[in-house]
Amino acid sequence: MKNIRNFSIIAHIDHGKSTLADRLLEETGVVSRTKGQNQILDDMELEREKGITIKAHAIRMPYRYKNTNYTLNLIDTPGHVDFSYEVSKSLSSCEGAVLLVDASQGVEAQTMSNLYLALENNLDIIPVINKIDLPSADITICEREILDILGDTIIYKISAKNGDGIQNLLVGILDGVSPPKGEIEAPTKALVFDSFYDIYRGVVVLIRIFDGILQKGEKIKFLSTGKVYEIEEIGTLGLTLEKTGKLTAGCVGYIISNIKNIQDAKVGDTITSLKNPTDTALPGFKDPKPMVYSGIFPINSDDYENLLGAMAKLKLNDSSFIYEPESSIALGFGFRCGFLGMLHLEIVRERLFREYNLPIITTTPSVPFKIFFNNKNVKEIHNPVEMPSPSSIESIEEPFMKVEIIVPSKYIGNIMRLAIERRGVQKDMQYVDEKRVCIYYELPLIEIIFDFYDKLKSVSSGYASMDYSFLDYRRSKIEKVDILINGEKVDAMSFMAHTSKAHKWGKNITETLSKIIPKHLFKIALQAAVGGKIIARTTINALRKNVTAKCYGGDITRKRKLLEKQKEGKKRMKEVGSVSVPQEAFLAVMKADKS
Ligand code: GTP
Repeated sequence: MKNIRNFSIIAHIDHGKSTLADRLLEETGVVSRTKGQNQILDDMELEREKGITIKAHAIRMPYRYKNTNYTLNLIDTPGHVDFSYEVSKSLSSCEGAVLLVDASQGVEAQTMSNLYLALENNLDIIPVINKIDLPSADITICEREILDILGDTIIYKISAKNGDGIQNLLVGILDGVSPPKGEIEAPTKALVFDSFYDIYRGVVVLIRIFDGILQKGEKIKFLSTGKVYEIEEIGTLGLTLEKTGKLTAGCVGYIISNIKNIQDAKVGDTITSLKNPTDTALPGFKDPKPMVYSGIFPINSDDYENLLGAMAKLKLNDSSFIYEPESSIALGFGFRCGFLGMLHLEIVRERLFREYNLPIITTTPSVPFKIFFNNKNVKEIHNPVEMPSPSSIESIEEPFMKVEIIVPSKYIGNIMRLAIERRGVQKDMQYVDEKRVCIYYELPLIEIIFDFYDKLKSVSSGYASMDYSFLDYRRSKIEKVDILINGEKVDAMSFMAHTSKAHKWGKNITETLSKIIPKHLFKIALQAAVGGKIIARTTINALRKNVTAKCYGGDITRKRKLLEKQKEGKKRMKEVGSVSVPQEAFLAVMKADKS
C-alpha cells in the first residue's frame, strides 16, 4: 500500500488538466508518445469536440522510480461549474490533488472552489503552474497568488503541451501525496465513486477500497440499498478494464456484478463484503440535485417512442439527469427534464441529436420554486404550467446561489452594475493579487441561468471567471408570465419571473417572436400576460403572399413544386390556432435578452 498514490487533477476550465493527463500517461508508458491521440481520457465524442471534460475518468499508471514500483491512480475531473459534483466524487477517493494553474490566466474562480473542496477532503495539494511555454505566461504573479493561498510550498512549473517538467512533477506526486492508510484485515469498505452502463457488460462500478479485500466470486452488499450481488469480474482501470481477480485496501478499480439498473450502483454508496462485513458506511456525497428544468419535445411526434428510449439510455450513464413524461398543448407529448445547469442541458440536447438522431425542441428553462399555500401546504414546482392560482398562494421562494467572481479590478464597476441588474447582493470583495479581485455575491438562480455568464464575459472583455453553488431558498415576488399568440396561450412558452422583470422579459420575448414568426395573411398579436392582465404587446402585420404569382403562364409542374416546398416548410412549423410558429420561436423565448 505504501507504493500506491491516488490523486486527481483540479483546475479551472481549460487550464490543461486533460493535456497533463495525456503527458502523465505517456511518461508512465501507459500510452506511447507516437500514438498521437490527444485527450485520451475524454472518450465521449462531445468531450473531444468541445475540448471539455464532462464525466470523471480514472486510470492506473505503473511507475518505476529508484528501483521501486509504484502505482499511480489518476482520477481526471471536469472543471465546469455544472459538474462540480463529479469533482467531489473524485476527490473523496484520493489522498492528493494536483492543483493546476494556467500561467497566462492565474488563479480563477473554479481553481478556488475546487481547491476548497480538496482541502475539505484533507487532501495533500501539489501546486503546479502550467503553460509556462506561452509568451503571455506570468510565472511570478502566478507563484505569488498560489503562495498567498497555500502558504510556503513547492510549486512545480510545467508545460503540459511540450512535456517540460512532467518527470519532476511525477516525483513530486510520489513525495507529496500520502499513500493510502487502510487495513487489509479490517471489515471491507469500498466507496463507489462512479458507475456507468456498458451495453455488453451491464453496469460497471468504479470503486476505491478503503479497508479489506474484494475478490471475484464473493458476495457484496451495497449499504444504502441492502442489495446483495456476486462479483463476476474485478480489476483495475487501465486504458481498458484489466481483470485482476482481487483488489485490496488502497486500490482503485472496478467491479462487474449482475447489476441491471445503474440506480442500484449509487455513486457515494459503500460496498462491503459479506465475508468480512461492516454496517458503517463511508461518508458519501449528496445526490446531485437538478437545478435547471426544461421540457424536451420531439419535433416529429412520431419520434416520441424513440425519444423515450434515448432518454432511458442517457440516464443509464448520467445519473444526474432526470426526466418524466409531460404533455403540452402546443408541442404534444414530451418530457420534463432536470439538469445540473445550462451546460448540462446543452450537452443532453446535443447528445440526443447526435447519438440518437432525434431533432427536439427544448422549452424555456426554469428553476425549482417553492410554493407556500394559504392552507399551509408546500409544493416544489419545476414547470411554469404547474403554477397554482395566485389566490391560493401565500408566498413563493426561489433558489439563491453563492457566486464568486474573479475579475481584473478595472472591471469592478461593470460587474457591480450587472449584478445589481440581476438582483444580486454583494457580500464581500477581496484582492487576489494587485490587479484582480474576488467579489462574492448572492444571486437568484433564475437570473443566472439565462445569459449571465455571457454578459459577465462581455462586460469584462472576457476576463471574469465565475463559480457558484446553491445557498438557500428565499421569499420573492415571483409571477408566471404567459405568452399569447393571437389570443391563444402557448403553454410551452410560459416562464417564471420576478415581478420587477416580468414586463421587460415579456416585452423582449414578444419582440423577438415578432422577428421569427413569418407574416401571415392576417395580423398577429403577440402578447405577454400575467394572470389576465396584458403586460406587453407586439404586432406582426398582415401580408398577402401569393407564392404562385411568379408562375405566369400555365407551367403547372413549377406551380406544384412551389406549393410542395411551401408545404415542406409548414411541416417544420407548429400550429398555434391559425398561426404557424417555427420551431426556432420556442428557442427564441430562451435566447431573448433578459437584461
Ligand atoms: P476541461 O476538461 O474542459 O476542464 O479543460 P482542461 O483543463 O482539461 O484543459 P485541456 O487539457 O483541454 O487544455 C485546454 C487548452 O489548453 C487546449 O487547447 C490545450 O492544448 C492547451 N494547453 C494545455 N496545456 C498547455 C501548455 O502547457 N501549453 C500551451 N501552450 N497550451 C496548453
